[in-house]
Amino acid sequence: MTSFDEVDKIDDAKNSAEELNYYERTAGDYERRVKSINFQASELCFKALKVFEEETGISIPKDGKFIDVGAGTGLSGEQLRIAGFTGVVDALEPVDTMFALAKEKGIYSTRYPDMLSPDKETSVPGKAYDLVYSCSVFTNRSATCECLPEAVRMAKNGGVIAVAMNGDHWEGTFDLVVRRMEDEKIVELKYSDASEELFGGTKARVFILNKL
Ligand SMILES: C[S@@+](CC[C@H](N)C(=O)[O-])C[C@H]1O[C@@H](n2cnc3c(N)ncnc32)[C@H](O)[C@@H]1O
Repeated sequence: MTSFDEVDKIDDAKNSAEELNYYERTAGDYERRVKSINFQASELCFKALKVFEEETGISIPKDGKFIDVGAGTGLSGEQLRIAGFTGVVDALEPVDTMFALAKEKGIYSTRYPDMLSPDKETSVPGKAYDLVYSCSVFTNRSATCECLPEAVRMAKNGGVIAVAMNGDHWEGTFDLVVRRMEDEKIVELKYSDASEELFGGTKARVFILNKL
């Protein structure tokens, strides 16, 4: 990892080292912080998945195999269960202090401690999951748009990749990578919405891909 500054706010992080160090130091306060701003990433992700299933007729097996990319303290795992998914859920989460809290929830099976990066495959098996989902992990800091193909690699052919993120990070980056993967016949973009609030005036982008 490169050298880094200790930042007080996640928005001040300029790279992976600063972002992961921030989460490492502040994990114990994470859930209080997100609840205090009514942060909606995982709720919006599963709301979108329901609409996606109704509109496309594609049904994700509820007892299938799932991976929570950037599982954090497990709020997104809790939302998966609330949405009625009963199958095995694995976690990709590089920050030990965050995952220590997720582990207590008793939701996750295997944890992969890898970090998504543009130039290196993680240890997560490929073509293994019915649903790969990620709530508030993809940004322009650490898990950048060039990490999206790695999340797609984890999905089975015919599987689904669902991402909820800060809408400010979508244009000119994630949209182009999605289009590139569509041109290469790797995925089809089935759902994309930017109408809902992620928190206090900031819009979310929620998008769902079907792996071909
Ligand atoms: C805002 S939290 C979201 C946690 C959880 N998904 C939720 O909905 O509450 C972002 C998480 O992404 C993880 N993260 C950040 N950069 C990452 C990367 N490059 N690869 C994998 N995880 C990353 C952080 O460690 C942190 O736990």
